[in-house]
Amino acid sequence: MTKNRISLTVNGKERELYVRPNDLLLNVLRDQLGLMGVKYGCGIGECGACTVLLNGRTVLSCLMLAVSADGQEVVTAEGLGKPGNLHPLQKSFVEHGAVQCGFCTPGMLMSAASLLAENAQPTEEEIREYLRGNLCRCTGYAAIVKAVQAVAGKE
Ligand code: FES
Ligand code: FES
Repeated sequence: MTKNRISLTVNGKERELYVRPNDLLLNVLRDQLGLMGVKYGCGIGECGACTVLLNGRTVLSCLMLAVSADGQEVVTAEGLGKPGNLHPLQKSFVEHGAVQCGFCTPGMLMSAASLLAENAQPTEEEIREYLRGNLCRCTGYAAIVKAVQAVAGKE
């Protein structure tokens, strides 16, 4: 199948990539760029594990063709912070025990980051509502909500 050249800014770096017309953004980020924080959960838009930011807004990368992201800016959990220099949300998730198996965590972080960019002081209800598209099979959500509340200064 013919490949198309696309350019993306991923976690602040310009990238030129060759993708097939049916390549999903999720697979391109994982397979071509090694960004394993982008998780393949359900593949049908139900779990939120594949959530990334596209031009600052959350998208489900399992539902998006890579060619549609041409020219746009993508941020994954790897772009939020680094070991030794974690993003406040990453730190808070660790401190609040909001990570168990960790599979949902990158997607949760991206959604939480998007929420706080839109609304720096969300209520607990607003946090729960915003994160409802991100499923966690381990934590029961209480610790995740507390972790986000702590960053918003509302714990
Ligand atoms: S893998 Fe994309 S929503 Fe589940
Ligand atoms: S920590 Fe395991 S799915 Fe959320």
